[in-house]
Amino acid sequence: MVKIAIDGPAGAGKSTVAQLVAKRLCVLYVDTGAMYRAVTLTALKQGCSVEDEHGLRELLDKMNLTLETKKGIQRVYVDGEDVTEAIRSPEVTRCVSTVAAHPLVREKLVEMQRKMASTQDVVMDGRDIGTAVLPDAELKIFLTASIEERARRRFQELEQKGITVDYSQLLHDIAERDRKDSERRTAPLKKAKDAVLVDTTGLTIEQVVDRIVELHREKV
Ligand code: C5P
Repeated sequence: MVKIAIDGPAGAGKSTVAQLVAKRLCVLYVDTGAMYRAVTLTALKQGCSVEDEHGLRELLDKMNLTLETKKGIQRVYVDGEDVTEAIRSPEVTRCVSTVAAHPLVREKLVEMQRKMASTQDVVMDGRDIGTAVLPDAELKIFLTASIEERARRRFQELEQKGITVDYSQLLHDIAERDRKDSERRTAPLKKAKDAVLVDTTGLTIEQVVDRIVELHREKV
């Protein structure tokens, strides 16, 4: 079975790259960050504190979280409602690292992620895929880029959607999210020992995708 893990900090281009690699290999793409975001959005909507680990787990046990791929795009549903766009809001982005730091939240989502990968070929992206979710993945990539480049890409992405943000604020927010994700106790963001480091600074998306597909070919 195909199991490719792509981890890295915020804005390194993981989802764009992972999606294209999955398409080239004709396998399922799973964006695990979207799952943490869906829990965060639901908590915010229901007035559950993002600090309340037990409350969050209860909410997660009750909610019906599903991922579906339509026209090559992963869509996220909570209790039948399509939340694909809503989970990208600035408020969710600001709170998600706090939610994701709770072991009881991670336990359940990791279980769901492993189940998905046990029945299907997958390219999965996140922060702990190579280190915790799929430690046996045949190919592990740690995708990164300089923080300035990552902030610049996010800025452009938001600009294209007609959203204007302050660049230095964006840079600060990305650095803060990386810090929280790297310093948390459970499954922190870090490169697995056997992961290949791919620095995408100055590379095009196509170049990165080609490199990963090539690395995969060498493995199989
Ligand atoms: O990938 P994305 O930026 O959408 O992820 C949102 C957040 O979800 C991350 O900042 C991190 O806190 C959390 N996350 C995680 N483990 C994963 C994927 C995402 O902790 N496997």
